[in-house]
Amino acid sequence: MKTDRGIIRRARYGEIERLSSLIRNTLLVSNSFDYDMNVIQNLSRQYSFDYLRDMTLRRRVYVHVTGEVIDGTVSLKGDTIYAFFVAPDRQRRGVGSRLLASVEETAKSSGVRTIRVDASLTAQKFYENRGYRIVGKERDTNYGTVFAMEKDLLP
Ligand SMILES: CC(C)(COP(=O)(O)OP(=O)(O)OC[C@H]1O[C@@H](n2cnc3c(N)ncnc32)[C@H](O)[C@@H]1OP(=O)(O)O)[C@@H](O)C(=O)NCCC(=O)NCCS
Repeated sequence: MKTDRGIIRRARYGEIERLSSLIRNTLLVSNSFDYDMNVIQNLSRQYSFDYLRDMTLRRRVYVHVTGEVIDGTVSLKGDTIYAFFVAPDRQRRGVGSRLLASVEETAKSSGVRTIRVDASLTAQKFYENRGYRIVGKERDTNYGTVFAMEKDLLP
């Protein structure tokens, strides 16, 4: 059983290019099983340097760092989780679970009672296994189908 104990911290400006590569590679390798190439390309275009730079201003963007390597990222704005990706070759080692637990804790300490996410088809089971329930389904031809999911954060 492989485990990676990294640290979770806010993303830095100088890391935005690396985050863009991490997200684009994960879309291509992990999400392409569940979405057609048109959707993957649209999402990939969306996660450009400029978009992520703006995102670091509008949301709290976190990274998981193992050694020198950024192997995961997740963002939080208010009660909603965004842009959650773990590098394909670092998945299934607990990195995603730690990032999720961390944003849940942050949201809870800011007074959020119910946390929300538009879950990819790829991650739906992952969220269900961590207490999230499906509250809706949104179909988008350009950006793909997602499940609206939420979880009550117990005090
Ligand atoms: C969803 C995602 C972020 C999860 O990241 P991850 O690092 O693989 O998550 P974890 O390793 O914590 O958990 C994944 C599975 O591996 C298992 N696992 C965790 N540590 C493990 C270990 N050391 N050895 C073996 N398996 C392990 C977990 O139990 C989990 O399975 P479960 O859901 O059946 O319990 C990742 O798969 C991903 O980036 N997917 C593509 C992008 C995406 O769709 N993101 C979500 C957008 S909403």
